[in-house]
Amino acid sequence: MLKMIELPYPLTALEPYYSKETLDLHYHILYKGYVDNTNNTEEKLRIAREKRDFSNIKCLEKDLSFYGSGAILHELFFENMGPAIPTEPDIELMKQMIKDFGSYEICKEQFTEASKTVEASRLVFASMGSKMV
Ligand SMILES: [Fe+2]
Repeated sequence: MLKMIELPYPLTALEPYYSKETLDLHYHILYKGYVDNTNNTEEKLRIAREKRDFSNIKCLEKDLSFYGSGAILHELFFENMGPAIPTEPDIELMKQMIKDFGSYEICKEQFTEASKTVEASRLVFASMGSKMV
């Protein structure tokens, strides 16, 4: 049985980039839904095995993959984010960024603009106050 991980920081920890309301939605509603549906699907699979009834196996395996990956991806997000700490790349990485992009600032600008085109990124940018909404 899959269990929700504890959010490793308060709901306000990612502001102003990720609002409290957005993090609350993703943790308590979306992530919880993925975990609950993963567990519900695993139970349906257990029952199917018990009855030796695999007539719905394609749908159940597809659901397990979808909900399970949704849960794992949310955990990766929660565990890899944190309160903003000003950092700079180390010297070796900085040299490579300057070589590849021309400057650290251009690298950040290109990454930021590319991120805006990623599917489902509108919610994140909306929480950042972007005009993309
Ligand atoms: Fe989410």
